[in-house]
Amino acid sequence: MRRVAIVGTGQVPVRKHYESGLRELGAQVCHLALGAVPKAEVQALYLSNMLSDELQSQKHLAALVADEAGLTSIEAIQVRAATAAGAAALRVATLAVASGAVDLVLAVGVEKMSAQIPTAALAKALDARVEVPDGKTLLSQNAALMADYLQTYNLPADALSGFSVNAHHNAEHNPNALFNDRQFTTEEVMASRIIYPPLRLLDCSPVCDGAAAVLLAPLADARRYTDQPVEILASGATTDRFRMADRPDALQLTAAARSAQQAFQQAGITGQEISFFEVHDAFSIMACLLLEAAGFAAPGEGWRLAENGEIGLNGRIPIATMGGLKARGHPIGATALYQTCEIVQQLCGQAGPNQVDDPRTALLQSVGGAGTTVLTHIFAPAT
Ligand code: COA
Repeated sequence: MRRVAIVGTGQVPVRKHYESGLRELGAQVCHLALGAVPKAEVQALYLSNMLSDELQSQKHLAALVADEAGLTSIEAIQVRAATAAGAAALRVATLAVASGAVDLVLAVGVEKMSAQIPTAALAKALDARVEVPDGKTLLSQNAALMADYLQTYNLPADALSGFSVNAHHNAEHNPNALFNDRQFTTEEVMASRIIYPPLRLLDCSPVCDGAAAVLLAPLADARRYTDQPVEILASGATTDRFRMADRPDALQLTAAARSAQQAFQQAGITGQEISFFEVHDAFSIMACLLLEAAGFAAPGEGWRLAENGEIGLNGRIPIATMGGLKARGHPIGATALYQTCEIVQQLCGQAGPNQVDDPRTALLQSVGGAGTTVLTHIFAPAT
């Protein structure tokens, strides 16, 4: 396998109610990621999106975006993994370059979900025969995890509020963040309205629109395109039992733990060597459980990392460094590509006031459904 590097990034600000359509947003981030690289050099485009079939009545989005971007006569394929779609597109693009099948590829994520309430469409990440008829949604499943966690470890109701406070704090200096205009205290998190008990508004990532893309090349060619390539050291992917109810202990995110171990092994590093973690903080409880699954805290102790400031920009394991899903926003299919762009900013020393001190390696995790599919990537500045 060849070593693979990120040689370009593109992101548009996450917003609500973008006037531009999916194809325009997708094409825009392709152009941003390409910069001065001639379009004719691009050989493939892998696109991630979850909801366009239902919300925009549009399938076949990869070819549509490729056409809009002027990338004609290339391979253009959509990659799906429910709410982890962006990471799946990144993985397929990475493997395509690593295998030698293609040399220069775009991984593009685009989602427009704010035009209507997408809760039912998002619930299609769950089992349509068993869970959805029972009224289960991603909100209710994460609320159940949160209730279970607080009860199992006998924690106060505000134990997880630090995740939201941290994410909103980090979003302040990210111009691409949806919520770069609102900071919250623990008290304000606890005063926000209940969405699905005990989940509150400020425990949830928002409904929003956005697009992001990265350009990948073989590491050996990377300096033709950029002075600061970022290497993808590892790409892991695995699944758990599909339904939460079928897992022996839903608070143990087994797929997350296994996919993290796969990635650490591929990269030849341990969790202790990770400088910061772009975590799938779609809900506060998910950030907490993922920190535990990756080994940054023992079971029942992840919340303390937030409580003690260890997830802050100067903490032991900074997370959501540009606002995370909670405050940058979680336009589903685009999310992991935003996270990848932010990781490149951090590893290249371009994160401005949010810069993590001397980052050497970054961890990215993305979750499809309620802990069902988990993809893990590890990155480092190319040497
Ligand atoms: N965090 C902070 N503020 C939020 C917010 C969030 N998650 N969601 C909405 N708001 C704010 C809005 O900006 C708005 O504020 P404003 O009046 O000052 O502009 C206000 O709350 C009302 O917004 P609205 O869009 O009407 O909220 P809503 O009740 O329709 O949606 C949720 C709130 C939590 C139900 C919705 O954001 C949601 O479903 N989130 C989860 C999405 C999801 O499941 N994603 C997949 C996870 S893997």
